[in-house]
Amino acid sequence: MLIFNPDSDPALAAQLNRLLDAQAGALEQRRFPDGESYLRVHSDCQDQDCLILCNLFHPDERLLLLLFLADTLRDCGARSVGLVTPYLAYMRQDKRFKPGECVTSRPFAKLLSGAFDYLVTVDPHLHRYHSLDEIYSIPSRVVQAAPLIAEWIQARIPQPLLIGPDSESEQWVSHVAELAGAPFQVLQKERRGDYDVSVSLPDLDDAAQRTPVLVDDIISSGRTMLETLNHLRAAGLPRAVAIGVHGIFAGDAYNQLTEVADVATTACIPHLSNQIDIAAPLADAVRELLAEREQH
Ligand code: R5P
Repeated sequence: MLIFNPDSDPALAAQLNRLLDAQAGALEQRRFPDGESYLRVHSDCQDQDCLILCNLFHPDERLLLLLFLADTLRDCGARSVGLVTPYLAYMRQDKRFKPGECVTSRPFAKLLSGAFDYLVTVDPHLHRYHSLDEIYSIPSRVVQAAPLIAEWIQARIPQPLLIGPDSESEQWVSHVAELAGAPFQVLQKERRGDYDVSVSLPDLDDAAQRTPVLVDDIISSGRTMLETLNHLRAAGLPRAVAIGVHGIFAGDAYNQLTEVADVATTACIPHLSNQIDIAAPLADAVRELLAEREQH
């Protein structure tokens, strides 16, 4: 197997190379003076299973090159071309809220489904969709971060109270709570704009004795976490731990969050907050999908 990593996540790429007993694919990429991309694959791909590790955060900057690369690998004789994207972008617009809005999750899924044989990701934002199969036409595997997060919490936080900032987070926080053997609460969120979010706090019984541990799938502007943290502080709760599966941290979000909480994320998006490793289940998922392809 050859693993290509066109963007910069050399740490995860090296882990996957080792776990999958694969070789690093060699690429040459640069920009022409007019901004267009030059791409050349130096590895021999003939009859090889090729895998692209591409973190699709900031997707607009990465997608075109990713599609060029997938197409080139196929053109050079690859036996299969798979995609590992720990963060699957454009899952949150899963509905047309206003007339004429692009339901971006769908055309994005079409583009990736047309380019790849299979897809592996971690906890995509499945809210109105129940499964990736509703919009992706290729086989996919979803790695769940809950067992990894639960293990991390159990090893570090003696009396946790898990908190989900909104109803969408319930699927993650309830799963983590069950695995960690900890109580959980889910709050109510109202979002009025990208940076305008309010969260209401129900009665938290024995909360004062416990460390609040917020769990959400995505930390983007950080508003959801910040708003929740402000409420917890106002209610007199101890300093919280904020855990995100996917830490995007737009703008100054990370600095603002670390002022009021300890922040930890999985290694889905490379960031200094990464504390929870995801390489092993990603490699298992790739193995499973390739084994299924062999059978058909
Ligand atoms: C949406 O419901 C997600 O689960 C997250 O709560 C949301 O994407 C977080 O975004 P932000 O950090 O911009 O508030």
